[in-house]
Amino acid sequence: MGHAEFTLRDQVDARRISLDEYWMPFTPNREFKADPRMIVRAEGVFYWNDRGERLIDASSGLFCCAAGHGRKEIAEAVGRQLAELDFSAPFLRGHPKQFELATRVAKHTPGDLNRVFFANSGSESVESAMKMALAYHQARGQAGRTMFVSRERAYHGVNFGGVSLAGLVNNRRKFGTGLPGIAHMRHTHVKENFFVPGQGEHGADLADDLTRIVNLYGAENIAACFVEPIAGSTGCLVPPKGYLDRLRAICDQHGIVLVFDEVITGWGRTGQAFAAQTFGVTPDIITMAKAITNGAQPMGAVAVSERIHDTIMAAAPEGAIEFFHGYTYSGHPAACAAGLATLDIYERDDLFARARALSPYFQDAIFSLRDLPVVTDIRGFGMMSAIDVAVDGTPGRRGHVLQKKLFDNGLHLKTTGDAAIVAPPLVSERAHIDMIADILRRTLAAL
Ligand SMILES: Cc1ncc(COP(=O)(O)O)c(C=O)c1O
Repeated sequence: MGHAEFTLRDQVDARRISLDEYWMPFTPNREFKADPRMIVRAEGVFYWNDRGERLIDASSGLFCCAAGHGRKEIAEAVGRQLAELDFSAPFLRGHPKQFELATRVAKHTPGDLNRVFFANSGSESVESAMKMALAYHQARGQAGRTMFVSRERAYHGVNFGGVSLAGLVNNRRKFGTGLPGIAHMRHTHVKENFFVPGQGEHGADLADDLTRIVNLYGAENIAACFVEPIAGSTGCLVPPKGYLDRLRAICDQHGIVLVFDEVITGWGRTGQAFAAQTFGVTPDIITMAKAITNGAQPMGAVAVSERIHDTIMAAAPEGAIEFFHGYTYSGHPAACAAGLATLDIYERDDLFARARALSPYFQDAIFSLRDLPVVTDIRGFGMMSAIDVAVDGTPGRRGHVLQKKLFDNGLHLKTTGDAAIVAPPLVSERAHIDMIADILRRTLAAL
C-alpha cells in the first residue's frame, strides 16, 4: 500500500498529516485514504469538515449524541472530574460518582432493573450481560443453561460473544465459528410490513421461533435470549405488534433470561428512556451505551433485575467476589461525570418527551421519500428510521455510494449495506428535519 497524506484545510488548524498509521474501524481504509472525508468540529446538530463546510448530523454521530454536539455542561463536568480525580482503581475501591450514576440510571430503567454494572462500550455491555445470565443460572442450580438465542440481522457488538450472537453475516464470516451453542431466530423484516410506519401488523408469530428452539434444544440448556427491541444497525427493523410481548411470555414459560440490547434504542430514541417502556415489555436485563454520555466519553452499562442480582449475590459465600468480571475502566470517573451531566440535560430539558413530540413530523418527512424509484422500503419508529435502496449488482454497493454522496451534499448518516439509517439528535428542530429530508431527496433522486 502506498503512502497517503492529507492536508487538513481547517482554517484554524491547517497542517499536513500522515494517513498511513491509523487503521480505521469498519472502513474501507484504502478507499478512505485515497479520498478522505474528515470531520473537524461539531456543534448542535451540525458537523463541519476541514474545508469549513457544514453538514447536518442525521445519525447523532453514531446514535450517540442525543442532546446534540458540543454540550458545554458535559465538557466542563469531565474537565472538573479529571482535575479532581482522574482515575481510581475500579476493583475494591469506589468513587462517589459511580454510585450516583448507577442510582440515576436506575431511576430511568423499567421494573426492578435497578442494579447497574458499568463497562466502556456496547460490546462490553453485551459480554457482561452474557456472563450475568450464565452466573444467574449457575447460582440457582441450573448450570446446564449455557446456550443463547439471538436473531438473524442482529448486531450485538464486535467481541466474540457479541459476534456469536450477531446475525449480520459480514460481521461473522471472517472470524471462525464463534461461541458454540447459539441459535438464531428469524428476523422480522417481512414483506407485508414494507413501507408501514411504526409497528407492522404482521410477524408477531416469528417470536414462536423461540419455542421451536426450546423444543429442539431443551429449555434446561438455554440461558438467555438477546434481542434489540428495534434492530438498529441492520436498518431499523421495528418489532411487529405483539412480537416482544410474545418473546417475554415464552421466556417466562421456560425460565429464559430476556435481554434487550438497547445500545441504540436506549436514552430517548423511541420517546421514552428505553424501548422497553415504549413497547410495554420489561426484560430481565438491558444493555446500553452511546447516549448514556451523549457520546462524550466511552461508556456502557448493564441494568439487571434485582432478582438476578440478588440470586448471584446470595449464592456466593460471605466475603467472596460474587461476579468475577470487570474492566480497568468500569465506572471511570470522567465517564461517570459525563453520564451525570448528560442525564441532567435529558431530565432538565425533558428530552425524551421532546423526541416523542417530534417523531410524527420526523417519520412523515422520511416516509415522504417513498415515491423515489430507488427506494425499496422505509421503516421507522420514534426518532429512528431506515431507507432501503435497490441493490446495484453487489449488495451494499449502492448504500456505500449513497453515504459518500450524502456527505458531499452536506449530510452525515450511517449506512449498513443498502439501508440508510436516519436518527438525528433529539434536540433537532423541524427545520433540521426538513433539511435532512431535502438532502436525502436530492441525493436519492440523483443516485
Ligand atoms: C444493539 C447494539 N449492541 C452493541 C453495540 C456495540 O456497541 P459498541 O460499538 O459501543 O461496542 C451496538 C453498536 O452500534 C449496537 O447497536
